[in-house]
Amino acid sequence: MVAGLAAADPLISVIVVIDADGSALDAIRSGARDVVVRGAEPDELRAAIDRALRSARHFLPAVPQAPTDQRPSGLGSTTGRIITVVSPKGGVGKTTVATNVAVGLAQRFSGASVLVDLDIQFGDVASALDLEPEYYLPDTVQGQARQDPMALKTILTEHNTGLYVICAPDSPIDADSISGDDVGQLLRMLASEFRYVVVDTAPGLSEHTLAALDETTDLILLSSMEVPGVRGLRKELDTLGQLNLRAERRQVVINFAEPHGLLGIADIEATIKAPVDLQLPRSKAATDSVNQGVPLLQSGGRDPLTKQLRALVGKLMTTGDGDSLPIPPAEITNSEQPRAGRSRSTRASAAEASTAHAPKVRPRRAASRWSRTRKLVVK
Ligand SMILES: Nc1ncnc2c1ncn2[C@@H]1O[C@H](COP(=O)(O)OP(=O)(O)OP(=O)(O)O)[C@@H](O)[C@H]1O
Ligand SMILES: [Mg+2]
Repeated sequence: MVAGLAAADPLISVIVVIDADGSALDAIRSGARDVVVRGAEPDELRAAIDRALRSARHFLPAVPQAPTDQRPSGLGSTTGRIITVVSPKGGVGKTTVATNVAVGLAQRFSGASVLVDLDIQFGDVASALDLEPEYYLPDTVQGQARQDPMALKTILTEHNTGLYVICAPDSPIDADSISGDDVGQLLRMLASEFRYVVVDTAPGLSEHTLAALDETTDLILLSSMEVPGVRGLRKELDTLGQLNLRAERRQVVINFAEPHGLLGIADIEATIKAPVDLQLPRSKAATDSVNQGVPLLQSGGRDPLTKQLRALVGKLMTTGDGDSLPIPPAEITNSEQPRAGRSRSTRASAAEASTAHAPKVRPRRAASRWSRTRKLVVK
């Protein structure tokens, strides 16, 4: 019967209820869009119906879209949200944020979140979540999985929080087989099936990251509080503006935040010419979590970092449409000097150029912090 219904009309989405020891694979092979175990929680049932609806919508004839100039360029024709975590520099917490955000969303909407490790060469999501995947990213962009959302879902790795995961390939060499087009196609298909698609990326703006940004609805821009990181963030914002890659929503997040650091939040905001939306404090809990392969939001601690990560998940869930934050247009300043061979005085003048954009209400504080930075950081 399932096969008959599924074949009759692609707009019919069949959800099969199986016993706890029943075979999900048989149901899916016969054409079911989803499978629910008898006695499932209402949340799980709701999520399955949601996915079935979205999946059926995939087959609806195209309806006229709003003119492209009225739609954010990062928004594809999808229904799920695509949340991409980027940073110009490595080691600033992208994977920490991406895994925790994805787990936090999965805890709230079971079975409705998927995390994609787009740090294709050196991704460590599998390790951060203590997963041993059977399939990897390259498997999801070829063969049947490339065409058919249900085939794709059968090769996702499931985490014990109900999060689905696509892990980066085991070997960096396999990265060569994945193109930007593959990434776009994969994310669009995932967003037709899942409420939230979270994307972890490699540092900088690789071909793969740019392809993800093309589909992104929610951008999380991450930096540490260090001068090179903040300046990199400014350049990244400029570049995204030049490329017209404006996500519907954007969060600027500062990790390893320290209240008495060399740079203050006001200095950072002055440099990047944008507000900082959230600060994540430095915490030993992060290291313990990565060593144990248990994300902070899963272990449910009460330390300040876990609280802030939870707040980030809350912000993502409650931020609605219509609050688009355009990325400021690029401006070339002295801070755009090439990095190589930069002298002490060049960096000092770059820092001074940045203070020119400090908010008028706090010029002295901003200037004095930058001066301290020059003395202490530029050696
Ligand atoms: N707020 C924090 N406090 C303390 N340690 C942290 C914090 N955030 C991240 N870390 C630690 O910093 C290291 C780098 O973090 P993470 O792997 O998330 O960065 P990344 O930006 O993904 O790095 P890469 O660019 O190499 O992929 C990890 O060991 C992580 O546990
Ligand atoms: Mg990482």
